[in-house]
Amino acid sequence: MKRGLFITFEGIDGAGKSTHVAWSADFLRARGITLTLTREPGGTVLGEELRELLLATQAPVHAETEALLMFSARRQHLEEVIRPALARGGCVLCDRFTDASFAYQGGGRGVEKRKLAVLEDWVHPDLQPDLTVLFDVSAEVGQARVARIKSPDRFERENAEFFVRVRDAYLERMKESPHRFVRMDGTKPIPDVQAELAQKLTLILSKWKT
Ligand SMILES: Nc1ncnc2c1ncn2[C@@H]1O[C@H](COP(=O)(O)OP(=O)(O)OP(=O)(O)O)[C@@H](O)[C@H]1O
Ligand SMILES: [Mg+2]
Repeated sequence: MKRGLFITFEGIDGAGKSTHVAWSADFLRARGITLTLTREPGGTVLGEELRELLLATQAPVHAETEALLMFSARRQHLEEVIRPALARGGCVLCDRFTDASFAYQGGGRGVEKRKLAVLEDWVHPDLQPDLTVLFDVSAEVGQARVARIKSPDRFERENAEFFVRVRDAYLERMKESPHRFVRMDGTKPIPDVQAELAQKLTLILSKWKT
């Protein structure tokens, strides 16, 4: 059987990932696609426990420890959720994946890219998303949106410079893999973003089915 379709959603906090993952899920389900909707860090029982730790701990966390925990959660996620769903031929929509490690732990925290690349190659040497949608907004826009809705987690409490570095690292990552990334202007009105997203999803579906 043909492998399923792996689509990831990326961007800084408040960029619109969760909003558009949910919308994309409806869009694909309406077209009869079998879907798995998941997120990182998280997606499994262990992964959600690690997420809670990563987002809420008051303890000091070295940047490389953070990177290792992210990849630990990811390893379990691939094992329990992502690979089985793809093997069944379904479509996996994932709110954040390895690009987020390059952006947050790499760009944001300064973990060497070389080390992250080793972890990437260890944990999923043979798998990359078929499509990665990068919602791009400035650090100010992202922070203002997050501040409106909830009390900030351990990442969201970082300052504007942190998110400038995260955003830049995402854009750099996109340059390195232009074939799988699409950048969306996350500051456009939601219906405009969705119209563009509909086009991209239709395109990847048509490629996948042929
Ligand atoms: N294009 C847009 N224009 C205006 N508001 C938007 C747009 N996209 C998302 N929002 C709003 O911004 C807020 C944050 O969006 P959302 O939760 O989808 O972001 P996120 O990328 O998932 O953030 P986080 O990383 O914190 O989970 C929500 O209130 C959402 O309605
Ligand atoms: Mg979200």
